[in-house]
Amino acid sequence: MKNVWQFMLFLIAIPALALSQPKEEHTMNRLIIYADSGKHTISRHIYGQFSEHLGRGVYEGIWVGKDSDIPNTRGIRNDVVQALKKIHVPTLRWPGGCFADEYHWQDGIGDPAKRPKMINTHWGGVVEDNSFGVHEFLDLCKQIDAEPYITGNVGSGTVEEMSKWVEYLTFEGVSPMADLRRQNGRDEPWNIKYWGVGNENWGCGGNMSPEFYAALYNRFATYCRNYGDNKLYKIAGGSYSDNYNWTEVLMKDIKPHLMDGISLHYYTINRDWSDKHSATNFDEASYFEVLQKSLKLDTYLTEHTQIMDQYDPEKKIDLIVDEWGAWHAEEPGTKRGFLYQQNTLRDAFVAALSLNIFHQHAERVHMANIAQTINVLQAMILTDKEKMILTPTYHVFDMYQVHQDALLLPSELTSKAYSPASDSKLDALHASSSQSADGTINLSIVNIDPKNSMQVECELRGIAAKAVSGRILTAAAINSYNSFEQPEHVQSTSFKDISIKNNKLHVAMPAKSIVVLRVSPE
Ligand code: AHR
Repeated sequence: MKNVWQFMLFLIAIPALALSQPKEEHTMNRLIIYADSGKHTISRHIYGQFSEHLGRGVYEGIWVGKDSDIPNTRGIRNDVVQALKKIHVPTLRWPGGCFADEYHWQDGIGDPAKRPKMINTHWGGVVEDNSFGVHEFLDLCKQIDAEPYITGNVGSGTVEEMSKWVEYLTFEGVSPMADLRRQNGRDEPWNIKYWGVGNENWGCGGNMSPEFYAALYNRFATYCRNYGDNKLYKIAGGSYSDNYNWTEVLMKDIKPHLMDGISLHYYTINRDWSDKHSATNFDEASYFEVLQKSLKLDTYLTEHTQIMDQYDPEKKIDLIVDEWGAWHAEEPGTKRGFLYQQNTLRDAFVAALSLNIFHQHAERVHMANIAQTINVLQAMILTDKEKMILTPTYHVFDMYQVHQDALLLPSELTSKAYSPASDSKLDALHASSSQSADGTINLSIVNIDPKNSMQVECELRGIAAKAVSGRILTAAAINSYNSFEQPEHVQSTSFKDISIKNNKLHVAMPAKSIVVLRVSPE
């Protein structure tokens, strides 16, 4: 009798088990991509960079001078140029940041030996000798094939100074500034599109009220002229995080014909401004907190967009997130105010999640510039004299570059939770997909769970998949990083745990991994 009951229970249990086990996997991690419903292009400028006169970002990181033993072209490091070319940097923002509102461009032109020196009051109080100036920056842009994005000085500058800068750069005919440019060895004007009118003018750029800045903006922007075929794309110095009032006042008070974009800054700060934590020495609770904060970007973009929509329903004005990234404590033993921090797999997640979020907001977000390219904050590259290493963040930009100028594809993702403690929970998986001009589908999937791998079933609707290839970025630990001793400790490799069956991709995402897949259509 006992055996009969056991047998009957067994019979009931088999289908129940069969249904519940695989079904849980099946329904929990599921991605549906609508390959025939893309509407918005992911602007390549979302992959922009930012290099400020701060710490060792420009000096040492980019500029070593023409007489340096470090191989260089006209003073600019060759190794750095080569690395940046590989990730196709579309735009480079310069000279700041806070530095922009105390920079006087005329100090950075002409004979370098005669250029005046200044104190970089924001960043370490060091002497800025202006050896990397206007021509050098534009040479760098040419060498890496990036579009320049120049931020002019509103905080301590004048309308005349900014207006003359535009004339110097872009006027072809005979004029005092165009003649001065020719005297300095450059006959042809440059083509300059992206033009920032001040930076963080609610803070380091002059501590202004939004009403005061908006009035100043109208005045400064009026005198930033379009010469010949050069058409400036003017960007107002925008808000930060959840400061919605600044965006609202600017949208209300700035004349729409004077503004093409409005900026926003969002840093993922590890703890808070006064008590930032180590970039490398952290536990899982800190890892969770940082990723949770970086995901808040989505809310901030949504909220600022909603405000912009009220004043600009046709979406003529873009949102330009010209500073973003992880901001940790400075590395012990480095100069205060230089913002030098190491870069771990955790930072790679901040980059991957943020880029996925920017893609989702492609309709309004035209540009984003990670802070900062070299040796400062969440850098792509770290240098030590003649040595150079690529960070995990660099590898994300390398893998993700397939999304540049691709068509954003709508997708739906159902994910298991990553829950390191009973009171904390995030989706383990985050994804984004796009379609390149040649029809290839690009899929970036992130598994932030540091302990559990994830099986993902990905359904491609509206397209027949023929072949798939992939790359993966992962590491031994969430705080793994590349050092000058071990420069290739964290790097991307080829990813093979994918198969296609019935037009579905089956992806085995290892714990703490970032995968980019490329699917060729039939
Ligand atoms: O990127 C470092 C600084 O952060 C920038 O100079 C400033 O705009 C922001 O506060």
